[in-house]
Amino acid sequence: MTYEYIKAECVDSIGIITLNRPKILNALNLQLMNELVSELERMDQDPAIRVIVLTGNDKAFAAGADINEMAEASAMEILKRDQFAVWDRISLISKPIIGAVSGFVLGGGCELMMNCDMIIASETTVIGQPEIKLGVMPGAGGTQRLTRAVGLNKAMEMLLTGEPISAKEALRYRLVNLVVPVEAYYQEALKLAKQISEQAPLAVQVIKKSVHKADNLPLADALDYERNGFYLLMASEDRKEGMQAFLEKRKPRFSGK
Ligand code: HXC
Repeated sequence: MTYEYIKAECVDSIGIITLNRPKILNALNLQLMNELVSELERMDQDPAIRVIVLTGNDKAFAAGADINEMAEASAMEILKRDQFAVWDRISLISKPIIGAVSGFVLGGGCELMMNCDMIIASETTVIGQPEIKLGVMPGAGGTQRLTRAVGLNKAMEMLLTGEPISAKEALRYRLVNLVVPVEAYYQEALKLAKQISEQAPLAVQVIKKSVHKADNLPLADALDYERNGFYLLMASEDRKEGMQAFLEKRKPRFSGK
């Protein structure tokens, strides 16, 4: 598949998607989002891929939705465009997505980052929701996912001032998993991806889904969901292989069955 605004490759069971509009800081236009989500869905179906890494470049993961595309659009045009429908499909991806981010992570860029399951950031990363400065507000989950991630007070401050926070502060607020020098963030993300790619694929996917229930379900229902996932995995061949390998004191060879 050839794309205009993203690059996609597969390296040892890791699918890597790179946002590729460097001249305008990877501003997310409609075509980029369509390409991105199509490729995420393709990788999700590809048995050779176990984990996905989503990245930009050192200067920008993404500086937000493409303002050129929004500046002249009427409310009715935006409504008919239904541009957020494509975003909803990201949460249906069953394989883990690791964000490797650096530089500007703003507006829709921050919302995209928050759709990742784990995030490795460079020390030069700045993260914010500046929509308020344009006279609007986030539309792809910014007020909801940010609040769940950093808590009400900090989310309120970031959303109402539009001022970004540093990578260090983002780490303190548990918005990212790890902060490393800019030379290292991409390699760190690949290292994490490799480690996860060696686990039993079905268990990885069921755990991902179960963890996300923590955001969406009351505790009793989420615990019930978790328990059913556990029962389901007990029927997998990888469960037999994993436990047998432990008893035989060897490394398991997971097949994804
Ligand atoms: C379109 C953008 C852009 C954007 C940057 N550019 N961000 N184009 N949409 N979101 C373009 C600039 O116009 C410029 O193009 C080039 O990228 C480099 O940007 P500069 O401003 O010259 O760079 P710098 O001075 O380093 O400032 C970087 C910046 C600033 C602080 C990130 O560009 C900025 O504030 N950008 C807008 C950030 C923002 O408001 N994001 C939220 C968008 S609304 P030229 O052609 O002049 O070189 C949003 C809503 C989400 O995301 C809704 C859900 C999808």
